[in-house]
Formats: sequence, structure tokens, C-alpha cells
Amino acid sequence: MDFHDFPQILERAYALRKSLNLEPHTTFYRLLNESETAGKLTLERIGQVGVLSLYTDFSPVQELELAGMLVDLTPLESVYLKRRPREARHRANVEREYLSPSEPLLGPHHPELEALEHGIHFRFRPGADLSIGLFSDMRPGRRWLREHARGRVLNTFAYTCGLGLNAALEGHRVKNLDASKKVLEWGKENYRLNALEPHPQDFIFGDVFDWLGRLYKRGERFETLVLDPPSFARGRGGVFRAERDYAGLVQLALKCLSQGGLLMVCTNHAGLSFQSFEKQILEGFTRAERGFKILERMGAGPDYGDGGALKILILECASGYLD
Ligand SMILES: C[S@@+](CC[C@H](N)C(=O)[O-])C[C@H]1O[C@@H](n2cnc3c(N)ncnc32)[C@H](O)[C@@H]1O
Repeated sequence: MDFHDFPQILERAYALRKSLNLEPHTTFYRLLNESETAGKLTLERIGQVGVLSLYTDFSPVQELELAGMLVDLTPLESVYLKRRPREARHRANVEREYLSPSEPLLGPHHPELEALEHGIHFRFRPGADLSIGLFSDMRPGRRWLREHARGRVLNTFAYTCGLGLNAALEGHRVKNLDASKKVLEWGKENYRLNALEPHPQDFIFGDVFDWLGRLYKRGERFETLVLDPPSFARGRGGVFRAERDYAGLVQLALKCLSQGGLLMVCTNHAGLSFQSFEKQILEGFTRAERGFKILERMGAGPDYGDGGALKILILECASGYLD
């Protein structure tokens, strides 16, 4: 992406988003994806607020110019910045304010705001952290779960409970499980924004690898189970790497899944192809000696073009033994 081409790129991208007819029911989406900018930047739209993620170094003057163009050429009034150079992971603790400035680069400050996804309200904190409250690529997964969840739902690695909320809105009893108290509280806020009373026992703070075993021992079974771990996580059993350890996680999770239940498995590991991901998931079923039927293979929505690293596989657990 040549810097001088940015206005044209932006205008084309915004026209495309308008043609998707996401609004007015969806006001949170990806306005610029990696394939539109040669991987140099992405932009999320949260209503009137833009969150610009930079994957390469721009000068402070260029950063401000980019933000100015966003405000001039789209309905955005504020632009927050996330600097995401490759080595960001190692710098995250020392330079948090540099990587994710709490104040916008341009326009009024919105420490908190709400936006819609398919008419569902979500709370966002665009300046608080690198993660703003919801992952836009998961929109199709959330929609799918709203339409297809069965019975009791266990939403693991729940983050702000976007997937769980979609099932809860359809009347399902949902347990959201995450290792961060902060995001679970945020999840409860999302429930309340949608007139749902969050029951404290449905928000479990703890380690998924630990809790899957505990729930199994307690005899708790679910008809729908969601697995959406980060590519790299630390848990009770040590380090989890999606490309190496997903089969084991599936094997463990299947103990808590009822016969005929749905398993939704997700990863946004860019280095893992759909084929290798699927191979691991099926290996998990083989180890657990459970039969399955693949129902869906999904990824991000059309606002991501043909890109996006997210892979979602949805399986029905056919029976208690291998068919
Ligand atoms: C990729 S996000 C999940 C996104 C979420 N499923 C959604 O759709 O919005 C990963 C989440 O896993 C949580 N996490 C990481 N390791 C964990 C562990 N061992 N046990 C429980 N949660 C964990 C993090 O706190 C984070 O909220």
C-alpha cells in the first residue's frame, strides 16, 4: 500500500462496506482488512469511533494524516491507535501506553461506548487495551450459535461472552468460562445491556483445562460446547499451543459433551491451515472414541474479504463410540 493511495483505498473499502448493508443492525465491523492495505493496517468501526491497527511503522506525522483522512472520508469522528509491530508481544508490558494509547489520536475521547451486532448491544473500550471488547471476525460464529445452539451451553475461553450472550438471548442456559475476572465482568455488562440478568454461577473464573475435568467429575454435561483458545495459552497442564495441543483439548472437552451435542471449535492461528486444524480436531474425536459429523466450516464475514485467519469448525457428536 502506497501512503498516497490511502484515500482511494479507504473510499473503495467504505463503499464496499455500505454495499454489505450491515447497518443499522450492525455498527461494529472491519472497515479495512489486511488484503486491502497489503497487510500494513486494519480498521475496526465501532459506530462513530475507528480503531486503527498499524502493523508497520509510520511516522507520527503520517499517523496523524491517516487519522485525518479517516475522519474526512468516513462517518468516523474519533480515531484510536493500536501499534502492532511483530515484536509487540514482547513489548506489551513495558510500553502499553505506546502500543495502545488510552486517548484517541484524533477526535473526542470515548472511554466506553456501545455498538450493535445483528441488533445485539455490546460495550467497547477502544482505548483501554489492545483488545477492545469484541473480535469482529467472529460475527458469523456468534450468529450461527444464536440460530443453532442446543440445550445447555458451555462457552470456554469466553472473553467478554459474545458467543455465550448470543445463545443466552435464545433462552439457553449458558456457562461462560475464562481465566480473567475482568472480561467476565465485562461479559455481565453485555448481558445487562441486552436486558438479561447475569447469574453469578454462570460466569466461571478459572482455567479451562482444570474446569473441564471438574465439570466432568460433577456430572455436568452440555449439549453445546464452544472452544476458542488463544493460539498460545498457559493452563494447568502447562503451555497450550494450538498447532500442537488442540487434539488433547478436544478429547478433554468431549467428556462434557452430551451424545448428539454440538462442538464449535475455533482458532485464529494464522500459521495453521484449515486442513491441519481439522486434522487435529478429528484426532481429538478419535482419541475420545466419539463419532462425529461435520456440520459447518466457517471463517470471518465478508468485511474481511477472502482473508482473516479465523477458522471455525462445527461438529455434531454422533454417539458415544466411533461409527
Ligand atoms: C481468543 S480470546 C476468546 C474470544 C472469545 N471466544 C470471543 O468470541 O470473544 C481468548 C480468551 O481465553 C482466555 N484464556 C486464556 N487462557 C485461558 C485458560 N487457561 N483458561 C481459561 N481462559 C483462558 C483469555 O482470558 C481470553 O479471554
